Amino acid sequence: MIEVRNLSKTYGDVTAVEDVSFIAEKGEILGFLGPNGAGKTTTMRVLTCYLPPSSGSAIVDGFDVVEESMEVRRRIGYLPEFPPLYADMTVSSYLTFVAKIKGVPSAQLKSRMDEAMEKTGIAHQRNNVIGHLSKGYRQRVGLAQALVHNPSVLILDEPTVGLDPRQIIEIRETIKALRGEHTIILCTHILPEVSMTCDKIVIISEGCIVGEGTPESLMSQLKEGEVLRAQIAGPSDEIRELLSGIDGVLDVVDDDTAAPKDGDEQAYIVTAAPGHDIRDLVAKRIVDGGHGLRELRGLEMDLEDIFLQLTTQEAEA
Ligand SMILES: Nc1ncnc2c1ncn2[C@@H]1O[C@H](COP(=O)(O)OP(=O)(O)OP(=O)(O)O)[C@@H](O)[C@H]1O
Ligand SMILES: [Mg+2]
Repeated sequence: MIEVRNLSKTYGDVTAVEDVSFIAEKGEILGFLGPNGAGKTTTMRVLTCYLPPSSGSAIVDGFDVVEESMEVRRRIGYLPEFPPLYADMTVSSYLTFVAKIKGVPSAQLKSRMDEAMEKTGIAHQRNNVIGHLSKGYRQRVGLAQALVHNPSVLILDEPTVGLDPRQIIEIRETIKALRGEHTIILCTHILPEVSMTCDKIVIISEGCIVGEGTPESLMSQLKEGEVLRAQIAGPSDEIRELLSGIDGVLDVVDDDTAAPKDGDEQAYIVTAAPGHDIRDLVAKRIVDGGHGLRELRGLEMDLEDIFLQLTTQEAEA
């Protein structure tokens, strides 16, 4: 299990991570999702004891990353954004080298290596030189070095960057197969990656957590009824004011994607605060105001909309 509590990290006067808290339960895959520069790698560097936190703490399998860093390192396998592979070494000599550094006892060396290569699908490449492997296979070697000491926790930083679509699918399948045996944090800026692979998602933007939950619960945060498209006939200034004044409405904009209508008809996109179903209220106010309600429907939002909304709201603020 991994527990991050009120973690902040600054580089000089740059605050990379601010008051971040989350928990990854044993055996689950937690997706740490955020745009470039959000603070994902920084958080992982603290978890893997490469950087001390500026404040707050992180506990890995019951051990504090600052106070008990040797215990934490023993329990963590880390695939960094740029895995330190030695191009001149063969796969098996490299993995032997890593396993020894990580303190795998000689008696277990062979079985640990075989298992890591088996799980990552590189057993048939064991005698090949790393520099001659395809990028996808090199990434698998990176994954194997993270696994070779059989850690309870795996931290994977953008594991599919630079791979072709088929390799991406294979690496994701490999990661999914590790669920249960290992607690995994998967950092990525690619939304489908987390929705396809992860049990839980934590969304980070500009160093702060802006959303958290299962893919399903994140979706239900913004249910139908919270974003409406309303086609209304009447003076648009008056209608915009009327819509904006409804309890729970955050935002009213013209729907410029709609084809222009005859006369004074206009489509509006109305966004309400989470938990506010404003459909009935909008309909009533429009009709009571003597305007013509031509169409009213909830807009479906998908995870991508939610991700964009959460991360751009934060950026605007
Ligand atoms: N060593 C450093 N010194 C100064 N600032 C840094 C350093 N490393 C990261 N930063 C800054 O901290 C912020 C967070 O960076 P971080 O690498 O953690 O983001 P990220 O979410 O991993 O981004 P990406 O998706 O691009 O990998 C950025 O503003 C970055 O410029
Ligand atoms: Mg990064």
